[in-house]
Amino acid sequence: MINHAASRSGCFAARGESTSRGAGSYTDHMPYDFDTFTDRRGTASIKWDWHPSESNGAEASGDAGGGPSYPTAAGPIPADEQIPLWVADMDFTCPPQITAALRARVDHGLFGYSLEPDGYREAVVSFMQRRHGIGVSPGDIVSAEGVMPIVRAAVDAFTEPGEGVVVQPPVYFPFYMAVRDKGRRLIYNPLLSDEAGRYRMNLAELEQQFRNGARLLLLCSPHNPVARVWRREELQALADLAAAYDVRIVSDEIHCDVIMPGYEFTSVLHLEGPAVEHAVVSRSPSKTFNIPGIAESQVICRDRETRKRLKAALGAAGHALTNPLGAAAATAAYREGDDWLDELIPYLEANARYLRERLQSDVTGIRMVRHEGTFVAWLDFRDYLAAGEMSDAALKDMLKRRAGVWLSDGPSFGPGGAGFQRLNIATPRAVLSQALDRMKEVL
Ligand SMILES: Cc1ncc(COP(=O)(O)O)c(C=O)c1O
Repeated sequence: MINHAASRSGCFAARGESTSRGAGSYTDHMPYDFDTFTDRRGTASIKWDWHPSESNGAEASGDAGGGPSYPTAAGPIPADEQIPLWVADMDFTCPPQITAALRARVDHGLFGYSLEPDGYREAVVSFMQRRHGIGVSPGDIVSAEGVMPIVRAAVDAFTEPGEGVVVQPPVYFPFYMAVRDKGRRLIYNPLLSDEAGRYRMNLAELEQQFRNGARLLLLCSPHNPVARVWRREELQALADLAAAYDVRIVSDEIHCDVIMPGYEFTSVLHLEGPAVEHAVVSRSPSKTFNIPGIAESQVICRDRETRKRLKAALGAAGHALTNPLGAAAATAAYREGDDWLDELIPYLEANARYLRERLQSDVTGIRMVRHEGTFVAWLDFRDYLAAGEMSDAALKDMLKRRAGVWLSDGPSFGPGGAGFQRLNIATPRAVLSQALDRMKEVL
């Protein structure tokens, strides 16, 4: 069991062990268990098993060598004792209903080329209506193996090489690849942030960019990494601009089901106007129910021609088949995952609160940006870096090699990312607690 009192000298959990409930009783009486640490080391998990080699080879060893070894601030911390809080998947087992559906499908033993199973689209429609009050008809839905294949296909389908595609940095960095890899022109419309560190869109600049001929906008809603849940007025203003300048909106809504209490998700599909009719809206059960490795997602296009062109581009990129396991998992998730999700959200909210409080009490110069949605927290280290005249690279190195805590480096999210780190809060509180203990020691 993890020992919080002495957690700086304790490993987050020995292999095969579970953590106990820890760091205060923020959320009680939950039938689903988000406190148990299920060890993913040795399961080919990108988060837990990938140790890119660094110059001195320390991280590539992957073996602390002989018996339990405990991290110390003397570092470097062995690769398999690092706490990875970077890649955006969760350390929680998925809803048991999904596992049961997968098991039932696997038991059949035949995995031939497949269609979407009966009830697949109806499950998507019902979930979107139930959770968000969005009306979608089954015929508007196309399934795909991941949201990024949809984004990339949309760039192919609705722009020509050399044409401009707008992104709003700091943003999920594969958006940049989706534009650049296809020879399109990347146009930055950086987010603005106010005194309190709250982000908003720069609509005046966006209008200028639309006027200058941008063809497509890649919207991230809610926004990863800044954890903003865009308000209806903001999105309607955006949709009005897109309609005025005939710009296509591709809205990546993969994080839309993880919204903190007090905030409300608005989909592009809630809005009005021609830009909404021609929009490409993607969603997935992957973040929501922690099944991203299963790579199942959906795209909703109300306009028939838009849908046809997107489908053709998906097909041209080799994404024309249905994965029978992905479809089974998604159907179960959308039909039966509500209770699990209803418990996940307060757990994440409590983790976000715990993180904020620990940062306030334990370190100076680090601020957590208001956490409205998603399970990634955006941490502002700029005062800390300025005080110590430290670079982003030195901070990253210190966190990873000396604290043994691997965060997502702000600069990787593009303009506006310098001075920030992204921390994935979807982990048992005891693990978060240990990561913060370690950070406190080196910061
Ligand atoms: C905003 C956003 N879009 C897309 C993805 C990846 O989606 P997929 O794995 O379905 O391609 C992520 C994963 O972190 C994400 O944060």
